[in-house]
Amino acid sequence: MSLERITRLLQRTMGLNAASVGRLAIARPAETRMQALGLPNLSAYADRLESDGAELERLIEAVVIPETWFFRDSAPFEALARLLQERIAAHPGRAQRILSLPCSTGEEPYSIAMLATDLGLPASKVTIDAVDISEQNLCNARRGRYRDNAFRVDDLSFRDRHFRAVEDGYELDAAVRARVRFRCANLFDPDFARDRERYDIIFCRNLLIYFDRETQARAITILESLLLEDGLLFIGHAESGALARRAFVPLKHPRSFAFRRGTAPTRDSSPPVPARPRPWKPWKPRRQPTPPATLAQAAHPQATRAAAPPAPDERLADARALADEGHLAEAAQLCEEVLAERHDAVDAYLLLAVIRNTAGEPDDAEALLRKALYLDPGHCEALALLALLLERGQRHEEALGVRRRLERSQRRRPEAS
Ligand SMILES: C[S@@+](CC[C@H](N)C(=O)[O-])C[C@H]1O[C@@H](n2cnc3c(N)ncnc32)[C@H](O)[C@@H]1O
Repeated sequence: MSLERITRLLQRTMGLNAASVGRLAIARPAETRMQALGLPNLSAYADRLESDGAELERLIEAVVIPETWFFRDSAPFEALARLLQERIAAHPGRAQRILSLPCSTGEEPYSIAMLATDLGLPASKVTIDAVDISEQNLCNARRGRYRDNAFRVDDLSFRDRHFRAVEDGYELDAAVRARVRFRCANLFDPDFARDRERYDIIFCRNLLIYFDRETQARAITILESLLLEDGLLFIGHAESGALARRAFVPLKHPRSFAFRRGTAPTRDSSPPVPARPRPWKPWKPRRQPTPPATLAQAAHPQATRAAAPPAPDERLADARALADEGHLAEAAQLCEEVLAERHDAVDAYLLLAVIRNTAGEPDDAEALLRKALYLDPGHCEALALLALLLERGQRHEEALGVRRRLERSQRRRPEAS
C-alpha cells in the first residue's frame, strides 16, 4: 500500500507509470532512501515525500532513466536537417527555435547543435533549448564530457570534428556547447509552459513511453501549447500511439517519427524551398552484438529457435530488437500498440510476458501467457515459459501439467521442438 502511495505521487508529479519501468525500479530506490533517512517503513517514507519537496526531488533523481546517445536513431536527424533548412529558407528573418525535452545528459540537443554547425547554420538562425527534470543529468550535460557509451552509431566522424580526446573520454567543443541553453524543469509543472515563447521544433523522444495513456494525452496537450501553429514534433519510435486522434500529421520521412501540428494531411514540409537543402549524412546504427538469451530461450532453447517465425509486423520485430538491447519499456509499449490493434497477436503477448517477467512482474507475465495460450493452446514457447514461471512460484503440480502439455504439443508440432 505504501509503495502504491509512492508510485501514485511519482505519477502525479512527473508522469512516471510504475508498470512501464517495473515496480522494482521504484521500490528499490525508495527503500534505499527510507533506510538512509532511518525511517522504519515505506509508509513513513511516503509521509516524508508528501511533505518534503527536496526528498521528492532526490527520489526522482533515483528513478529517472537517462539512457541516450549521440544521433540516437539516424532518421530523425536526417529529417531535421532537411526540414530545418526548408523552414529557414521560408522564414529567413527569424531564428528557428528548437526544444529538446527531455534532454537527459545532453546528447540529443548537442547532436542538433553539431548538425546545425555542420550545415553552416549560425546561432542567429537556430536556437536550442534543452530541458530535463534531473539536475544531475543537466550537470553532466553542461560538463560536455562523454564516454564510449554515448557514441553508439557507426559513423563517428562527428566525434573527430567536434570533440577532443581527454583523460576520461571526449570533450565537446566549447562553441558547440555554447549553442545549447539547459534548464531544469518538469514538463508537468504548470509554470513551465506558461508564457513561454513557442517553438518551431520540439524533440520529445523517449519520454512518453514512461507514461500511461492519460498522462501521454496531458503531455501532448502541453507540447502542443509549446509549438507554433505549423510547428514540428519529433517523438520516439515507440511513441506514435500517443498521437492517435490528435491534431498532428505524420511527415513523410521514413522512421523519423516527425509530425506537423495541424489536421490537414497536406505537404510533408514547409513552403517551397528556394535553394536545394544540403543533404545530411545518414548515421547508421552500429551493428548490435549477438542478442543475449531471453528468458524464453533459457526456458526452452530449441523450441524458441524453431518457433520464432519472421515477424508478422514490423513493430513487433522492432519490439524484439529493443527488448534484446535491454530497452524494455520501449519494447513493452510497442507490444501494447500491436495488441491494441490486433487482439490475436500471440507473439506480442509472448514477448510482453517475457518483458514483464524480466521486470519482476511474474503475475502479469502469467496472465499474458495464458492469453497467448488461449489463442494458440499448443504454443511451445509460451508453454515452456509458463512452466518455468510456475516452477519458480513453487506451483509444481500446475507446472507438471503444463510440461505434459508442452510434450504433447512438441510431438504434434515436431518442427517447433
Ligand atoms: C530516456 S531519456 C530520453 C533522452 C533523449 N530524449 C533521448 O531520446 O535519447 C528520458 C529523460 O526524461 C527525463 N524526464 C522524466 N520525466 C520528466 C518530466 N516529467 N519532465 C522532464 N523530464 C523528464 C529523465 O530525467 C530522463 O533524462
